[in-house]
Amino acid sequence: MRIGVLTAGGDCPGLNAVIRSVVHRAVDNYGDEVIGFEDGYSGLLDGRYRTLDLNAVSGILARGGTILGSSRLERDRLREACENASDMIHEFGIDALIPIGGEGTLTAARMLSDAGLPVVGVPKTIDNDISSTDRTFGFDTAVGVATEAMDRLKTTAESHQRVMVVEVMGRHAGWIALESGMAAGAHGICLPERPFDPADLVKMVEERFARGKKFAVVCVAEGAHPADGTMDYGKGAIDKFGHERFQGIGTALAHELERRLGKEAKPVILGHVQRGGSPTAYDRVLATRFGWHAVEAAHQEQFGRMTALRGTDIVMVPLAEAVTELKTVPKDRMDEAESVF
Ligand code: F6P
Repeated sequence: MRIGVLTAGGDCPGLNAVIRSVVHRAVDNYGDEVIGFEDGYSGLLDGRYRTLDLNAVSGILARGGTILGSSRLERDRLREACENASDMIHEFGIDALIPIGGEGTLTAARMLSDAGLPVVGVPKTIDNDISSTDRTFGFDTAVGVATEAMDRLKTTAESHQRVMVVEVMGRHAGWIALESGMAAGAHGICLPERPFDPADLVKMVEERFARGKKFAVVCVAEGAHPADGTMDYGKGAIDKFGHERFQGIGTALAHELERRLGKEAKPVILGHVQRGGSPTAYDRVLATRFGWHAVEAAHQEQFGRMTALRGTDIVMVPLAEAVTELKTVPKDRMDEAESVF
């Protein structure tokens, strides 16, 4: 069998572990040939690829990023790109294509599969917001990075009697903010799923200081937003070049808290540091299991499906189900987090 693999969309710790696992299972166990397309679907479209043998994947298990490179497909060019990709898959004689990626990548995978091509998807995102899998690899690593950052910020915040507003990733779903905020014992957590009122955060900080605590940490997801009319925060402001000049909710909220409290409040934007570096043991194991099952699915001709974690089992779910809706944080999980502030 000739298997093509690619990594597309934003990178994520654990991608190399999947690639390595696919190669080991396919080459070692089945005697397959594996080729890796460079920079996501663009490598497939341009015919840029390299053969992946055991040597090519040696030593990459613990390495962050992706040895194949990644890129995003523009949404409005998706259909056209998929038509061209179909031609290339035939031209390269690919018996199974394994795209590893998030929502956009899996949508393209589904379109290719609907066009009759042999595709097995592997989900990835640090955001953990793909509804048909309990977990995606990369999430555990991102939560660990954000938790450690907040642990560190607490000690410096206490020394200087400051409020730290820590912005973590998560545009549409607040899983990283929820879990890192809980793990670090943040005193406030703001998620995209529930508009916040800055007055509640002001009250929380004032109560803490009244109890003798001299610092506070607020964890805010990048997609969180204030409830209507509670804060003027500049979202959507466009400069003369037509670029949005919004500095992010973390910065806006820190300034707002500083103004209302009359105490120093510092924004800390963790950004892409959450996506970089070595994956945790959990993410390496999950990624390795996904790779193994993707190859099995290819050999069983279970095309049009994607690996998913359900409980402790890896199952194959239809790509059609994978991308229908985003998995957001449910109310009961938010209530649990709030009860320990
Ligand atoms: O989807 C993963 C993610 O890391 C989001 O949490 C974040 O909003 C986005 O990617 C950032 O993407 P980019 O790499 O384009 O800056």
